Order: sequence, then C-alpha cells, then structure tokens
Amino acid sequence: MFWTALPRPRCKGDTRARLIRSVAWPTFVALLLLPSSLLAQPPAGRGGPPVILPDGPGKSDVQSACTTCHGLGQIANSWGNTKAGWEQVFSSMVVLPPGQRDAVAGYLATHFPERPKPPVVTRPGPAKVDIQEWLVPSLGSRPHDPLWSHDGKLWWAGQWANVLGRLDPRTGAMKEFPLKTPRSGPHGLTEDRSGQIWYTGNSAALVGMLDPNTGTVTEYPMPDPAARDPHTPIFDQKGRLWFTLQQANMVARLEPKTGEIELATMPTPRSLPYGMVVSSTGVPFVVLFGTNKVASLSPESMEVREYPLPNAETRPRRIAITSDDVIWYADYARGYLGRLDPQTGAVKEWPSPSGPKSQPYGMAVAKDVIWYSESAVRPNTLVRFDPKTEQFQSWVIPSGGGVVRNMMATPEGNLVLACSGVNRVALVTVK
Ligand code: HEC
Repeated sequence: MFWTALPRPRCKGDTRARLIRSVAWPTFVALLLLPSSLLAQPPAGRGGPPVILPDGPGKSDVQSACTTCHGLGQIANSWGNTKAGWEQVFSSMVVLPPGQRDAVAGYLATHFPERPKPPVVTRPGPAKVDIQEWLVPSLGSRPHDPLWSHDGKLWWAGQWANVLGRLDPRTGAMKEFPLKTPRSGPHGLTEDRSGQIWYTGNSAALVGMLDPNTGTVTEYPMPDPAARDPHTPIFDQKGRLWFTLQQANMVARLEPKTGEIELATMPTPRSLPYGMVVSSTGVPFVVLFGTNKVASLSPESMEVREYPLPNAETRPRRIAITSDDVIWYADYARGYLGRLDPQTGAVKEWPSPSGPKSQPYGMAVAKDVIWYSESAVRPNTLVRFDPKTEQFQSWVIPSGGGVVRNMMATPEGNLVLACSGVNRVALVTVK
C-alpha cells in the first residue's frame, strides 16, 4: 500500500500518549480491536493498533483527504472537536473544495465530538507576553524545531515537508528551502557562527547544512549504520556540532572543518538521548528520555557521566541551562519542572501548573528565567518559572500549539516556538 512508503517519523512518547488517550475512549477501543483483515486504513502509529471509521455521510471524504500524511489514529486519538473546530484543525493540513470540506467537518463533528480534556490551568503573574503566530506555507509540514538566527529571522524545520523555512517577522515574508535527500525528516535546527543553518535529517540518518544565501545543502551521513535517529543539534564554543541520536542511544560530535563524526554510546541501554545544552565551560548535557537520568560528556574524550534523578518514573524530554550552569528539565511523564545542580547532584522539582498529565515538553531559558510548554493540554500552554521567586506564570497559546516540541530564546529575551500539529511558528515578545 502506498502509505507505507510515506515518512511518518515518530517520537516514542507520542505513540504512548496516543495509546493512553485511546484507552480513555471506549468506543474506539472497541473499533481498534476489530481484526486487521477488515481494515483498509493505515495504522495509528508505529506498531499501534489500526483504526477504522464508523459509517456515516462524509466517511469516504475523510478516508481520501486525511490519510495521505498520517493514519486515522490522529483523528481517533484526538480530543474531538466542534464542526468549526474541526475545520480549523485540518485547514492547517489540507485545502479541500468547499463541498468536501463541509462533509469532512460534519462527519468529524458527528463521530468525533469534543470530549473532556485534561484541565488547562493558567497562573497569573508579573510578566506580560505578546504571542504572534504564522501559518507556514507547506500545509501539514509539522514544524519541529524553531530557530532565531543572528539576523533576526525565525526558522523552522518542516519535518514532513522536507523543507527548512524562514520567516522575516517584520514583514511576514516566508521562504521554504527544499532539502537534498527526499524525506529526510528535518528535525533539530541550529546556526553556526557564519550564519549557516544546520539540521538533523532524522529519517535519513544525516546531518545537513543549508547556506541561506544560495540554498545549497551539504549533507553529512552517519559513519555507522547503527547511528539512527539524529535528533537535537547544538554547537559548542569550539565550533563543533554535538547532536543526540535518540533510538541509537548515542551522542555524536561533528567537526565541521573535516566532516568527521565521532560517536559515544550511552551506558544505560535504550536511554533515548533527547534534548541537549552546552555549559559555559563547553560540557554537553543531555536528558535521557528513556530513563530517569541526565548525562554529561567530557568535551574531548566524550566520556559519559550520568546523574540520576530521584523519581524512577521521571522521563526528562527537554533540557535548559541557566548562566550558573544549573540544569533544568521538563519531566514529560510526571508533569514536573526539575532543577539539577551538576556540582552537587542535588535535585529539586515543582509540579507543573496543569498537573501530572500535562506533559511538559519544548523548553528554553531566557534571561535566566525558565520557559516551557505543557504539550498535552488543549490548548497547549506557555509556562514561565522564575528561579528567584519559584513562582509559575502561564498563558494559553492562541492557535492551540498542537504540541510545542521545541522553543528557543532570542538574545533580547523573547522566545520562538514551533507549533507542530497546527503547522505554525510563533514569536513570543516578553515585556
Ligand atoms: C499534508 C499532510 C496532512 C494531511 C493531508 C492531513 N494531516 Fe492531519 N496532521 C498532519 C501533521 C503533520 C500532524 C501532526 C502530527 C504529529 O505531530 O504527530 C497532523 C495531526 C493531526 C491531528 C492531531 C492534532 C493534534 O492537535 O493532536 C488531527 C486530529 C489531524 N491531523 C486530522 C486530520 C484530518 C481530519 C485530515 C483530513 C481532513 C488531515 N489531518 C489531513 C498532516 C496532515
């Protein structure tokens, strides 16, 4: 079937979240248990249960319009919506002729109405933010990582459209740069000192460099076939590119002068190295999403040191660092913000405003204040935590966010966000 050839890069946690949601929706659990021989649709996710749709007017329109990029699990495992809400959700993914749009929205609102979501809790506080969002040109592109470049442009990795995009927030002008290897799954983004944009080609096991002036892409393949899933990239002070390789359980160091890539395997099996930062002294720190640990690497020997986090259930997904070289992590599994002092190993944790199921995810530090998004609540939130007062403040993201997988601070202390499921990028101006 043709859909098997399409790229459907997934992160492990996504699949788990969908399975949890589907369990809460008994009608669909019943449908999911039907034998696969009756099914004409792609599975919900990697190894996930297949999904069939209930009969009703508009069903065939949904089947033809909504399965080219992903399985019907995206619909079955969603929180449902009103008719207008459904139109808004899929208009960032596909443009349909008015008749079909109406049939699809009507069908979805009938069979997938809104259902109770985890509560969104916002907290008042001293900061003011202005959140501006832009729909990006390639529909359904799943903007994964945002990047603020030195010349004040907002970049994004259009993971499912195989493009890097660039927005000038002053004029709203956008340009998408096609990449070289088809379906490479551009994921993480970072910029080098000369303004070249580097990305991880998650689905094609490569790292790429885009010259924004010419559109030329240079690719660096992995030196070892075991080095799958290049994930989050970051430069150190010596201009070397470090990146995590989640499924390969590795961290890599690339020397741009020679193109040489060196690999280090994490001591804990299947520890899923995920977000990464570099300390003021050039030490890379990594969160291990498959276990309750943070790790650091010696900048030259790449020797790994692990820092256990106290709760066995903790699954740190993203990481940030303050100017005092203290590590902050978003505990996706438990809904906590954590602080690790690598000097002493001491850990302190605070429950996220929207609670244990809020799935804190994309994260950044701006002017020594911690920012992150609660990715499981609908709409997603933007959360601010001031380490001095230990107080949270939070806002909803106007577009809903659709899972904010990463964010980055600008030198002015503002933030850029990639809103993956709603196909948008955001600039948060902090006052
Ligand atoms: C051009 C590609 C594309 C098409 C066509 C498409 N989608 Fe999507 N859709 C996406 C992407 C990308 C995501 C984000 C998936 C992810 O992050 O795992 C998504 C996610 C979703 C979600 C989950 C959103 C959330 O907030 O969790 C729903 C629901 C959805 N799609 C419904 C639809 C429906 C209904 C249609 C048909 C009318 C459709 N999609 C067609 C690309 C597409």
